[in-house]
Amino acid sequence: AEVKKIAVVAGDGIGPEVVAEAIKVMRKTEELFGLQFEFEHGLFGGIAIDERGTPLPQDTLEMCQRSDAVLLGAVGGPKWDSNPKELRPETGLLGIRKALGLFSNIRPANVFDCLKDASTLKPEVLEGTDLIVVRELTGGIYFGEKYRREGAHGEEAVDTCVYNVTEVERIVRQAFEIAQKRSKRLASVDKANVLETSRLWREVVIRIAPEYPDVELEHVLVDNCAMQLLRRPSSFDVIVTENMFGDILSDEAAMLTGSIGMLSSASLGEGSFGLYEPVHGSAPDIAGQGIANPIATILSVALMYRLTFGYEEAATAIETAVKNVLDAGHRTGDIAVDKSKALGTTAMGDLIVAAIKR
Ligand code: NAD
Ligand code: IPM
Ligand code: MN
Repeated sequence: AEVKKIAVVAGDGIGPEVVAEAIKVMRKTEELFGLQFEFEHGLFGGIAIDERGTPLPQDTLEMCQRSDAVLLGAVGGPKWDSNPKELRPETGLLGIRKALGLFSNIRPANVFDCLKDASTLKPEVLEGTDLIVVRELTGGIYFGEKYRREGAHGEEAVDTCVYNVTEVERIVRQAFEIAQKRSKRLASVDKANVLETSRLWREVVIRIAPEYPDVELEHVLVDNCAMQLLRRPSSFDVIVTENMFGDILSDEAAMLTGSIGMLSSASLGEGSFGLYEPVHGSAPDIAGQGIANPIATILSVALMYRLTFGYEEAATAIETAVKNVLDAGHRTGDIAVDKSKALGTTAMGDLIVAAIKR
């Protein structure tokens, strides 16, 4: 196959630990499926602040721009938490998404049967849960104007939430298209009873919906959605929502699968180029211990194969390998019922690599 260029930005904390396992998986699929990847690594996040004085150095961004896909670990940590905005790792993450035009963040949460006991929810509630959160990624309160000012009662802080029609339209269309390929149910989540941006959002959804007559649409207020996700998760198929609601709801959805260490994601724009990263962060509390769950990042590689490269067979082989390793009872600490038997990051990665079959 044609050589594909992968830009690797591993970042901070457990980022490099889980990315290393994902690369092992990619190497194994090269052999088995005749794929070819060329990896290029770039400084990103806190480590880039330390070494280069900025969380997203220009050469790292250019490396991503000339790649076919980006594999990202995670950024952030206590070391940089009191830095000003420009010197925060998270600012680099928002910057890379924006600069690459990745407005659509796909976060699937499907429950592996054998992990039902790893969730804090009752197994019968989880039965049949297989949903996707489609999160708008480059707008809303994350990207609106932010500032401090002197008010009548002292210092004030302002975050502005802005959405235009184009931004809502493009993400909502993607969500309808994803829903059409699945069980044809779409929940649009907003706070239209309070927020003006949500009222615009809902208007756009209602206007576009007739173009997708086969998709059953419901509007759900975000507070109710947070509750329904725990009450009847299997009733959701595709959830589309704005940036911050999607951030929060996807971490909530992670607990349906047993752990945030299981949740993969794809960030896409209009074309097939994409950035792939676990939903979780740099996990400073366990960084450096070799115990992080690499599955979220490994499943993100499967998304990369399917959504950017169309390597469907290899994508399925990765997902099947993960399932088989879990079915055989292997667990990292975050999904283990008996924590004393938990495997480390590389042991889990090795087992998955060995389980990938053509
Ligand atoms: P987090 O997701 O890093 O961790 C939350 C909890 O989940 C922690 O207890 C952690 O140990 C656990 N956890 C996360 N991933 C795990 C894995 N793969 N295996 C096992 N356990 C795992 O969220 P946080 O603690 O709120 O944030 C830590 C830092 O990460 C912050 O600086 C935050 O800004 C950053 N962050 C970055 C990203 C990203 O890079 N995409 C995402 C979320 C948070
Ligand atoms: C995520 C993270 C980021 C976000 C932070 C670290 C900026 O929580 O990828 O979910 O809020 O988008
Ligand atoms: Mn998040």
